[in-house]
Amino acid sequence: MAMGRICLVVLLALALSLNVSLASKKMKVCDKGWECKGTYCCNQTISEIFTVDNFEELFSKRNTPVAHAVGFWDYYSFINAAAQFEGIGFGTTGGQVMQQKELAAFLGNVAAETSCGYNVATGGPTAWGLCYKEEMSPDQLYCDQNLLYPCAPGASYHGRGALPIYWNFNYGPIGEALKLDLLTSPDMVSNNATIGFLTAMWRWMNPIKPKQPSAHDVFVGNWKPTKNDTESYRLPGFGMVINVLNGGLECGKGDIDAMNNRISHYLYFLDLLGVGREQAGDNLDCGQQVPLNPVSTSTTSR
Ligand SMILES: *[C@@H]1O[C@H](CO)[C@@H](O)[C@H](O)[C@H]1NC(C)=O
Ligand SMILES: *[C@@H]1O[C@H](CO)[C@@H](O)[C@H](O)[C@H]1NC(C)=O
Ligand SMILES: *[C@@H]1O[C@H](CO)[C@@H](O)[C@H](O)[C@H]1NC(C)=O
Repeated sequence: MAMGRICLVVLLALALSLNVSLASKKMKVCDKGWECKGTYCCNQTISEIFTVDNFEELFSKRNTPVAHAVGFWDYYSFINAAAQFEGIGFGTTGGQVMQQKELAAFLGNVAAETSCGYNVATGGPTAWGLCYKEEMSPDQLYCDQNLLYPCAPGASYHGRGALPIYWNFNYGPIGEALKLDLLTSPDMVSNNATIGFLTAMWRWMNPIKPKQPSAHDVFVGNWKPTKNDTESYRLPGFGMVINVLNGGLECGKGDIDAMNNRISHYLYFLDLLGVGREQAGDNLDCGQQVPLNPVSTSTTSR
């Protein structure tokens, strides 16, 4: 009887310690309500470090009458979309300064790809991000023969969204990932600002090809260059982010405007967010880098 009880106690103690050691190996999961669930949410959420006033300051000219998407983009759509990616690290990785830097890098690329600013524009050329929500007067439907992602009759897969996506073979898989039928209704991306940000965040968080890094992985330091990469001058930094997003057109071509335009938006946003451009990091440009992908496989393809 006594023996039995001791055995039971020992067994219980064993089971408990096993449980405890299992639990301590499991990553802590935090719940920040609708905005964020997951290990990354143990840090601050985006809305805690990036306010509506920050958004208004970064995109101050987007609703001026000469802009092409007046009244479309807003802070709430951005935060709503971000809620789908914060749990896997978007804008929630590495503490406040890294979080703000990632937002400056992501939104800097967004601004560069959607700007209608030019050198003499009021407020300067970097104040005109989110001026567009889609490509104006596209000269083709961006429909390619594709068995998996065939074009819907009459649909046009021209550039749409905050980091514009092009082609049926990009709308198809991105829509699948977001559980939205973008192949049938590509115009959802330019009719709903949350979706316009979701497709952009998907682009930021995913590599163009398997085994390549995403822009996010590169930016937050999850990516380590291989021998091939270092031989191709591809090193961690904002330059490699440009390479992932649009290297085929913008990298390995020296000091060109399209590349410099992304860099100047990133630096400007670092300043506006109070981080300061001196924190921009090494390897800002990709002028000497060999492109990761040729133009034809990029989501951008302009
Ligand atoms: C949260 O922030 C701290 C720095 O404040 C950082 O060391 C840690 O890696 C961050 N957690 C995640 C999951 O990124
Ligand atoms: C926009 O898209 C989001 C995400 O799919 C959805 O939750 C929301 O209801 C849509 N808004 C409108 C006005 O259709
Ligand atoms: C390294 O680069 C060479 C030449 O460009 C290429 O053939 C090879 O597949 C690359 N290796 C890897 C692991 O990417």
